[in-house]
Amino acid sequence: MGKDLSKVLIPEDELQAKIKELAARIDEDYEGRDLLIVGVLKGAVMAMADLARALHVPVQMDWMAVSSYGAGTKSSGVVRVLKDLDTDIAGRHVLVVEDIIDSGLTLSWLMQNLKSRNPASVEICTVLRKPDAIKVPIDVRYVGFDIPNEFVIGYGLDYAEKYRNLPFIGTLAPHVYGAS
Ligand code: PRP
Ligand code: MN
Ligand code: MG
Repeated sequence: MGKDLSKVLIPEDELQAKIKELAARIDEDYEGRDLLIVGVLKGAVMAMADLARALHVPVQMDWMAVSSYGAGTKSSGVVRVLKDLDTDIAGRHVLVVEDIIDSGLTLSWLMQNLKSRNPASVEICTVLRKPDAIKVPIDVRYVGFDIPNEFVIGYGLDYAEKYRNLPFIGTLAPHVYGAS
């Protein structure tokens, strides 16, 4: 494991402290309201689990699974819904939880999709954001960390479906995805 990592970008204690900080802001903003938090599978699983436990406002949890497809392996902005919400969000306060905003294409599509269902409100909470990778402007209410445009893993984030279970955010050593 150690040899696959080039460095720890955000250690576990900083990550957990940030989640608690975001939860405190969310508690304040949604006081007296029922909140539906929506996790985007699979990357948002850790953030959802930790955030939900740190919140004091009453929450329901739901999940969406989406897949970007198109020419490359990276997000194309054309999104297919693999698993839709179980919840009717009309009139509900919705908070979408993500592990990372990279190009922003996934969330840009998702926000349009969710807004068309007439929720009372819909906001975004993301653990990470890469300002240098963004392709489409997105209005994000809660951001954990702005990070450099590097390949990051851990805390839900994968490389080829691995490393999601790391409790911290790290960057992958080039030999893992490069030659030799
Ligand atoms: C990753 C990440 C975000 C999205 C961000 O998900 O979890 O959902 O990409 O990229 P974007 O801002 O460029 O659209 P991925 O599609 O890898 O699926 P996963 O969550 O199952 O890993
Ligand atoms: Mn994802
Ligand atoms: Mg992924």
